[in-house]
Amino acid sequence: MNKVTVRVPATSANCGPGFDTLGLAVDLYNEATYEITDTKGFQLEVTGEGAEYLKPFGRNLAFASFLRVWNKVMDGKRIGLKVKMINRIPMSRGLGSSSSAIVAGLYAANCLCDNYYTRDELLNIATEIEGHPDNVAPAIYGGFTISYMENSEAHSLKLIPAKPLQFIAVVPDSKLPTVLARQAIPKTIPHGDAVYNASRASLLVGALASGNYEYLSMALDDKLHQPYRAHLIPGLYDVFAAAKAAGAYNAIISGAGSTVMAYAAPEADGEAIAKAMVATFAQQGEHACYHILHLDTQGVQAI
Ligand code: HSE
Repeated sequence: MNKVTVRVPATSANCGPGFDTLGLAVDLYNEATYEITDTKGFQLEVTGEGAEYLKPFGRNLAFASFLRVWNKVMDGKRIGLKVKMINRIPMSRGLGSSSSAIVAGLYAANCLCDNYYTRDELLNIATEIEGHPDNVAPAIYGGFTISYMENSEAHSLKLIPAKPLQFIAVVPDSKLPTVLARQAIPKTIPHGDAVYNASRASLLVGALASGNYEYLSMALDDKLHQPYRAHLIPGLYDVFAAAKAAGAYNAIISGAGSTVMAYAAPEADGEAIAKAMVATFAQQGEHACYHILHLDTQGVQAI
């Protein structure tokens, strides 16, 4: 086999209080076909997000991650590599586009190397590349994931929430580089805020596992990163309030932003929630589009 197509879900990390820990996969997908060619060098064709600036070179995550597995398993055997991407996940908006590129490359190479690595091993390689496990874990496993580091090793527990939810992702035009959003967070926080977050993150996991979604309005609150990032997403708390007023349980910054994601019951009017959030961003002069999404339970797949 010298060619494989993989499909990777978008992800939303942190889920409010679970900074660098919680994440979930949603049904918005990037697809990438990797083909080993006789012609040496890299070729890239991109349709959709990033088509204007993604380039075929070794530091592009889609190539670098593929080669990380290929070079290890195939002992550095020189190859040509052609990648065709269909990108639907917006870039630098907190929906895991870089994780999707990492996971696509690792998984595609692993498929072409007779599944040399397990998914758990791929999680560790992906975490090494990404720096933290909360986006790459749901991209690999699907579902809602609780990830943690132990002695530099990444681990993740996958959970499928007891009942369905709608995830309304409102994506502003303005990008927010993760590095900038991480710089905004202080090195230490008050003990009381740590207690606040421990209680909310625990409550969130409990609410999702038990189906007691009435707790979500409290459980999605956060004092660890969102207050420090709010100035980077003008109108953030008004957008949260608009989502709740329109029927969502609550809303959070998706990953490092700039997307704001509302969590709502399946019977809630997702369109109305999305439009209320978009209108609130518009009051700040920020144009935004939206996606009404559902949980992906499979993670990365070869298709
Ligand atoms: N946990 C990460 C953050 C997710 O919030 O910075 C984005 O990579």
